[in-house]
Amino acid sequence: MRSDGGARVIFDNLSKAFPDGTQALSSVSLHIEAGTFCVLLGPSGSGKSTLLRCINGLETPSDGHIYINDVEVLPTTLKDLRRGIGTVHQHFGLVNRDTVANNVLAGALPETSTWRAILGWFPRKLQERVASLLQSAGLEPSQLNRRVSELSGGQQQRVGIARAFMLSPPLILADEPIASLDPKLSHEILSLIARQAATVGATVLCSLHQVDLAKAFADRIIALDQGRVVFDGAPQDLTEEKVAQIYGSKALEHDKAIPS
Ligand SMILES: Nc1ncnc2c1ncn2[C@@H]1O[C@H](COP(=O)(O)OP(=O)(O)OP(=O)(O)O)[C@@H](O)[C@H]1O
Ligand SMILES: [Mg+2]
Repeated sequence: MRSDGGARVIFDNLSKAFPDGTQALSSVSLHIEAGTFCVLLGPSGSGKSTLLRCINGLETPSDGHIYINDVEVLPTTLKDLRRGIGTVHQHFGLVNRDTVANNVLAGALPETSTWRAILGWFPRKLQERVASLLQSAGLEPSQLNRRVSELSGGQQQRVGIARAFMLSPPLILADEPIASLDPKLSHEILSLIARQAATVGATVLCSLHQVDLAKAFADRIIALDQGRVVFDGAPQDLTEEKVAQIYGSKALEHDKAIPS
């Protein structure tokens, strides 16, 4: 298991154009220091998911480079780099018919031999890690053998977070991890991600739509609009005027859509 702290992530002039001509990212250059909780903000379609997807190779940049601890993200390096990336998904990304424990163990598959995975023989050390992660996530030991489909949305995201941290990765990618949760749960889930990241010193790149939560949790906020960085700074420097500039009328439309 890793315990080498967080990853430094560098975006060097990153651009992404899709085949239909959509320019999702335009010359994005950023240095994210190790251990930073970095929130990506920006209106719908501004390029947040595309930026995150380029990091773990789900999208290929049209131009520019990404480095994780000085290793460039390339088809040849991706397999190794992915071992050091934990992912928290918007819709949890769990196998619903499988148990809580097995879903969390799946986070260790990159470092588990195929035959062990097929037979479901995971070393005791990994099983203990599952139990400890679930406990820190606030789940009872009695829930280990429950099917994920029997859990509430908030509990499912706790399982998703435990899975993401299974190998203590230096980098966590979370694309709208609270999009399907109510405001109270959203706060709890972001606290959990921040707490777990702090225990291993992991860097977090997390996209959100809620400016107030971004300000509450981020060390650094990066806002995108039409694929360009339009704000990069500390939460206290993101003034209401800047938020209005970034979102324009889209912020008002979005706020209306969120039940308070
Ligand atoms: N596979 C694709 N093919 C073509 N265009 C795409 C594709 N994926 C994303 N886009 C476009 O790229 C732009 C950026 O999309 P992206 O999903 O990164 O935005 P986002 O900031 O994550 O938005 P949201 O807040 O709605 O999740 C948008 O214009 C989107 O329509
Ligand atoms: Mg998105």
